[in-house]
Amino acid sequence: MKNVLVVSGHTDLKNSVANKTILTELEKELPGAEFDYLDRLYPDFRIDAEAERRKLIRADIIALQFPLFWYSVPSLMSRWIEETFVHGFSHGSSGDKLHGKKLVASFTAGAPEDMYRRGGGMGYEAEDFLAPIKAMCGLCGMEFAGFIFTCGVSYLNRSDAGERARTEALAKDHARRLTELLKTL
Ligand SMILES: Cc1cc2nc3c(=O)[nH]c(=O)nc-3n(C[C@H](O)[C@H](O)[C@H](O)COP(=O)(O)O)c2cc1C
Repeated sequence: MKNVLVVSGHTDLKNSVANKTILTELEKELPGAEFDYLDRLYPDFRIDAEAERRKLIRADIIALQFPLFWYSVPSLMSRWIEETFVHGFSHGSSGDKLHGKKLVASFTAGAPEDMYRRGGGMGYEAEDFLAPIKAMCGLCGMEFAGFIFTCGVSYLNRSDAGERARTEALAKDHARRLTELLKTL
């Protein structure tokens, strides 16, 4: 299998259910992959951009794992992108270090599925929120290689044992689908 880098953008994995379960399953399923836990490494948001660029260079496939926060990647992952993907590295006339790499978006959301249908309450489908990531791939010469999405896993349900178990089951299925996709790339 190719070199896989999984970047976790959750700002507080300790209190996560869905993303924590997904990442725990991925660590079991993808023993050769590198895992980049941004909240553990950079609780102060001070990104070591050189170290992060080295991880990106080593990878053939980059999987961004994150909860949808206000229809976007969480602030910590946004900060990571801003600091790491810079002119001359990822883009620009001499910025070719990410050319040919594949990127997968793997994300969770609290709202239920019917909200993310066309004409639904959010006004957009979940994939629509990936437009900035897809554009970033285009600018950086990366291939956007697909996405895995799970909705209906709200943080509001964590205290209820039944809801927590349902979230964990959805997260395990999410990890299975993501592993399958990564193995085809
Ligand atoms: C600050 C914040 C913003 C959020 N924004 C959204 C959103 O835009 N759409 C949505 O469906 N859920 C939203 N949620 C819910 C999270 O996506 C959901 O709780 C998360 O995917 C669950 O994963 P976790 O158990 O790993 O934390 C938001 C949650 C927080 C804390």
